[in-house]
Amino acid sequence: MYLSHLLLHNFRNYIRETINPHPQLNLIQGENAQGKSNLLEAIFLLGMGKSPFNARSREIIRWGQEWFCLKGRVQRRDHSLEVEMTYKRDGSREVTINGQREENISQLLGRINVVLFSPEDLQLLKGGPSFRRRFLDLQLCQMSPRYFYYLQQYRRIIQQRNMLLKDIGSGHTPGRDDLSVWDGQLIQVGTGIISRRQEAVNKLAPLAAAFHRKMSGDKEELTVKYRPSIAGGGERSREEIAADFQRVLTAARREELKRQYTMVGPHRDDLAISINGKDVRTYGSQGQQRTAALSLKMAESHHMEGEMGEQPILLLDDIMSELDARRRQFVFAAIQGKGQVFISGTEGDEFAPGGWGRRYSISQGRIGVG
Ligand SMILES: Nc1ncnc2c1ncn2[C@@H]1O[C@H](COP(=O)(O)OP(=O)(O)OP(=O)(O)O)[C@@H](O)[C@H]1O
Ligand SMILES: [Mg+2]
Repeated sequence: MYLSHLLLHNFRNYIRETINPHPQLNLIQGENAQGKSNLLEAIFLLGMGKSPFNARSREIIRWGQEWFCLKGRVQRRDHSLEVEMTYKRDGSREVTINGQREENISQLLGRINVVLFSPEDLQLLKGGPSFRRRFLDLQLCQMSPRYFYYLQQYRRIIQQRNMLLKDIGSGHTPGRDDLSVWDGQLIQVGTGIISRRQEAVNKLAPLAAAFHRKMSGDKEELTVKYRPSIAGGGERSREEIAADFQRVLTAARREELKRQYTMVGPHRDDLAISINGKDVRTYGSQGQQRTAALSLKMAESHHMEGEMGEQPILLLDDIMSELDARRRQFVFAAIQGKGQVFISGTEGDEFAPGGWGRRYSISQGRIGVG
């Protein structure tokens, strides 16, 4: 699929700009602080309904304005699609898909598939488990509305269950029977999330390893393993996951009543990522961490393509400046013919002379072609 038209209106530092991107390679060039990342953020937002950095609409609206509007037209294999969104300063928003108003923002998911790699993604390797859970959730939500629904439900269950644990802890007893009702729901919905994450990691791990191997000139073996908080991971059926969940929850009961929050479940999952057997977070060099993050993102893109039958739009924010010449060459070769790609950078196209579909140069929120 590819974005054929984009309008930005009062979005960050853009007053009103439109572009008609190339179906394949788009180079976004500009000096620092001109609007390159903002442009990629806008495309991500059209796909996900929210900013990749969890920015609120009032941060995104151009300073001094009351609303921003984004419009995107996308060509998919067998149909085209127009998404328009207006977000106001008071937090209200209006989203239309093909001119039809959608009340629920989740209707956007899966319409315009995006994979964003930004400098912040180094947190995948350096940061806490929540970054790695988010990595899985973002792709799974785009591939499966059901997964998104599970996540929403799961959040609600955790909230309710934590409230109940607090009530019991402070002597107000609705009782432990109620707790076991919530346990049942926690396990049911949680098992759905865990089995989908497990399935995703099984597909992602070999893809990421293959990419990383090539990037490192066959020197490094990247291993990605799912670490669910309720068990050791590996291949497990839904029944086994549910049984594990029940067992771990029972074992944690006393501690949970003491601490008054839900201590086990998908909200505590993690990924274990290592290179040549050594944990990347603890032992990886900067370059290794960067390469591993990129490998994970490229794997995400391939994974989505495999599941959806179409390549997602790839947004690569400022990756080339961090890579040595050999790795740049490799990345450039890897994205050729890989659907629509937007790559931003402060340099020109020195790293990839020729072969660009379209070049954009950005200066103070104005987009020029060529
Ligand atoms: N809501 C907003 N209204 C107006 N301007 C904004 C808003 N939010 C951010 N900006 C400005 O947009 C400018 C461009 O930001 P952006 O992150 O896109 O730069 P960039 O081209 O990616 O630069 P770099 O090469 O440093 O990453 C910044 O100077 C920032 O202050
Ligand atoms: Mg930037």
